[in-house]
Amino acid sequence: MIGLILAGFLIVLFIIICWRHSWGVCTSKTDLTGKTVIITGCNTGIGYYVALDLAFRNARIIMACRNAEKANAAKEKIIAETGNKQIVFQQVNLSSLQSVRQFAERIIKEESRLDILINNAGIMHSNSLLTEDGLTTIYATNHFAPFLLTNLLLDLLQSSAPSRVINVSSHGHKIGSIRFENMKCPMLDDGNRTYANTKLANVLFTRELARRTEGKGVSTFSVHPGFCDTELFRFMPSLVQALMTRYPLMKTAKEGAQTILHCALSEGIESTSGEYYSDCKVSSTSAKGRDMAVAKKLWEVL
Ligand SMILES: NC(=O)c1ccc[n+]([C@@H]2O[C@H](COP(=O)([O-])OP(=O)(O)OC[C@H]3O[C@@H](n4cnc5c(N)ncnc54)[C@H](OP(=O)(O)O)[C@@H]3O)[C@@H](O)[C@H]2O)c1
Ligand SMILES: *[C@@H]1O[C@H](CO)[C@@H](O)[C@H](O)[C@H]1NC(C)=O
Ligand SMILES: *[C@@H]1O[C@H](CO)[C@@H](O)[C@H](O)[C@H]1NC(C)=O
Ligand SMILES: *[C@@H]1O[C@H](CO)[C@@H](O)[C@H](O)[C@H]1NC(C)=O
Repeated sequence: MIGLILAGFLIVLFIIICWRHSWGVCTSKTDLTGKTVIITGCNTGIGYYVALDLAFRNARIIMACRNAEKANAAKEKIIAETGNKQIVFQQVNLSSLQSVRQFAERIIKEESRLDILINNAGIMHSNSLLTEDGLTTIYATNHFAPFLLTNLLLDLLQSSAPSRVINVSSHGHKIGSIRFENMKCPMLDDGNRTYANTKLANVLFTRELARRTEGKGVSTFSVHPGFCDTELFRFMPSLVQALMTRYPLMKTAKEGAQTILHCALSEGIESTSGEYYSDCKVSSTSAKGRDMAVAKKLWEVL
């Protein structure tokens, strides 16, 4: 009996180890000396580990965060750990279109190039339903902000080509659907699904952006980082969070950063521009994630 239990335990352990192994790590040796990277929401979570890794590769890193205190603390940690002093904080509130515009203006004025843009910041929950622009807050932060930011910085990206844009999406997009009327009215949207819907918008936008930038030296990817232990779930009761963190199948934020790094750094993946990546390889999206008519229409909403 004990032998049977032990065997069962070992088999489960073996499956977990194999599965964790399949998550993949970024093996690129690319050095980023002389290159500039913008990462949104990198004071914590997955974005922080992306910033840390790219700092080790000597990139100039612009930390696009909303909270000066948290961002400066993270910045000092990265500088202390990597010795890279080219880490700068530029404030932006991604829930405000005006703030995104001002941020982009500062970047265009102060930076001579932009090699990699990583739209990482995202929220799953918000206490305020509508932003000052009258947009559903989760939509504003997860979709409209990266949409506007990417478009405002596109010329700079193109003049720095070959360049890359990465959108951090989620497998959650698979239960999402785009209803245009809901983007500006949270009451219409199914509260449980808004996050999924915004992540579907990320997938579609990546495809449409890839189409629009074809031949211009800008490669674009959307990424599912994996189910990661981060502050994304900060709105949930602490007991639920504690249980989730102990779940052995959850990635750490550092493991979650790997697919983003793979898309930002690996050589020879330009031909897959527009695709959706998970575990450091191309992955499939839901059928709605391939609807190019909706993808095009998304371009006309803001
Ligand atoms: N964790 C997962 O399991 C998982 C799974 C699939 C996809 N993702 C995606 O991965 C990305 C990173 O999430 P994470 O898990 O690392 O979450 P996180 O730990 O909560 O980090 C999110 C980051 O976004 C920033 N942010 C949120 N709202 C912002 C705003 N209005 N303006 C500027 N910055 C803002 C946060 O800043 P503050 O610290 O100031 O709030 C924080 O730095 C998200 O796009 C998320 O959807 C995560
Ligand atoms: C960011 O913008 C939102 C929506 O307009 C606003 O409610 C919030 O107070 C702003 N946050 C910060 C830190 O400026
Ligand atoms: C990222 O997603 C945003 C919002 O969905 C979109 O506007 C932007 O073009 C996307 N960028 C890339 C590289 O896909
Ligand atoms: C979320 O889903 C649950 C269960 O399906 C449902 O009862 C609830 O009304 C939903 N919440 C919102 C805000 O739509």
